[in-house]
Amino acid sequence: AREAKLDLIKKHIKVFPDFPSKGVLFRDICPLLKDPLALTAVTDLLEEHVRLTHPEVDLIVGLDARGFLFGPLLAQRLGVGFVVIRKKGKLPGPTVSVSYTLEYGQAEVEVQEDAVYPGQKVLLIDDLLATGGTLYAACELMKKKQADLLGCMVVIELKDLRGFERVKPISVFSLVQY
Ligand code: PRP
Ligand code: ADE
Ligand code: MG
Repeated sequence: AREAKLDLIKKHIKVFPDFPSKGVLFRDICPLLKDPLALTAVTDLLEEHVRLTHPEVDLIVGLDARGFLFGPLLAQRLGVGFVVIRKKGKLPGPTVSVSYTLEYGQAEVEVQEDAVYPGQKVLLIDDLLATGGTLYAACELMKKKQADLLGCMVVIELKDLRGFERVKPISVFSLVQY
């Protein structure tokens, strides 16, 4: 059943060469979102992973923007809350932020100060791991909040870019690898 679900998921990830810039192979999850069975398969497999490896999880923490597409579905299955990490300037009230370097320039992510309490067991979720810069910044944010970070989850991992090395020693679980 697991293999059938993975096949269904792979069938609904489209590839666009040279988007958004030349040389990039863009993996598009829009067909996955549009197909209810494929989207259920994603949630099923992520839920299975968490129940087997991190049943003690308190919160799912998702990354702006595409992590928001999968995180709340998973959190509801698990019966835990969902917290957002957003790009700078989107969250009201006191926030904690971390800046990180991209291929060109700087970016910043933030979380509301009262969103995660010290010692809470959290799992990070995003759609895709590329260089790992985004997830690394999110890990740093969780460290600042003194969260107990159990691991990271993504639907797609681009193995060649070795993002898992950037996120180390935190582990990254992925459903589909390219
Ligand atoms: C994409 C993707 C991941 C990130 C992965 O997000 O959704 O979050 O890039 O790349 P990295 O591992 O090299 O950091 P992006 O910032 O393009 O925007 P979006 O999620 O808001 O669409
Ligand atoms: N984010 C970073 N790299 C990406 C890629 N190749 N496809 C889709 N989203 C991405
Ligand atoms: Mg993103």
